[in-house]
Amino acid sequence: MDFSGKIALITGAASGMGAATAREFTSAGGKVIIVDINPETAEKVAAEIGSQPPLIGDVSDSSFCQHAVDSVLKQHGRLDVLVNCAGTIARADALGTSDEAWRRVMAVNVNGVFYMSRAAIVPMKKQAKGAIINFGSIWGERGASGVVAYCASKGAVHQITKAMALDHVKDGIRINAVCPGEVNTPMLASERLTPPTPKDLQKLAEETVPLGRLAEPIEIARVVLFLASDAASYMTGSLVTVDAGYTAG
Ligand SMILES: NC(=O)c1ccc[n+]([C@@H]2O[C@H](COP(=O)([O-])OP(=O)(O)OC[C@H]3O[C@@H](n4cnc5c(N)ncnc54)[C@H](O)[C@@H]3O)[C@@H](O)[C@H]2O)c1
Repeated sequence: MDFSGKIALITGAASGMGAATAREFTSAGGKVIIVDINPETAEKVAAEIGSQPPLIGDVSDSSFCQHAVDSVLKQHGRLDVLVNCAGTIARADALGTSDEAWRRVMAVNVNGVFYMSRAAIVPMKKQAKGAIINFGSIWGERGASGVVAYCASKGAVHQITKAMALDHVKDGIRINAVCPGEVNTPMLASERLTPPTPKDLQKLAEETVPLGRLAEPIEIARVVLFLASDAASYMTGSLVTVDAGYTAG
């Protein structure tokens, strides 16, 4: 895949699948702008891939999202691809989920996707071309216990994907979501009282994933690149599950 001359803004690109996607875009010739809330890790990834200094901020802040898109336009004059990968999780059932935790998960996972996408479709509409790839989840379709806010937020991401895809299909903008299963990133361990050991993760994979292993971030990033490319020209409003058979049964 060749992304030479293409400008991609990737949120959550300082870690996990966002970082893997940033690496893949760069290897395919694209210019990446990293957006993340964590300056240390964002700068590390930016230095590694040789991209411009990252834009540091919180995607749940609509004015920051507008600023991120405006600064890309000021510098590059266009925006070809937006990847909404930034996300967070709260591991609790309803009784264990505080108002604050609920609001935070919704603010980052839902509002963040909406604010970034709303800002990005303005230049994409002018270009009459653009691709947005959202990070949904298998937990946006299926229920899972102990992650009620996360499941609700990813269900909302799936609906944003479909509704916005319909609204902007005639504008030349394709909007799809990638829905990963269990991926080997820092998020798998986050918000747990006891961080899982490699043995725990192997057990989780063997018990739940038909292929018997967790995904590596690059295996999701490759699907994101496909959705961003003209090879996916007939795809919009799709929720693309990448879970090695987890939800097939
Ligand atoms: N890991 C999994 O198994 C899995 C499965 C399905 C979906 N997902 C989704 O994939 C996406 C990437 O997850 P990951 O596993 O690579 O996670 P990760 O924790 O490795 O990376 C998430 C990145 O998002 C950034 N971020 C968090 N809140 C932010 C905010 N408010 N503003 C800007 N940046 C922010 C973090 O700093 C981090 O760099 C998320 O949307 C996640 O919900 C993950």
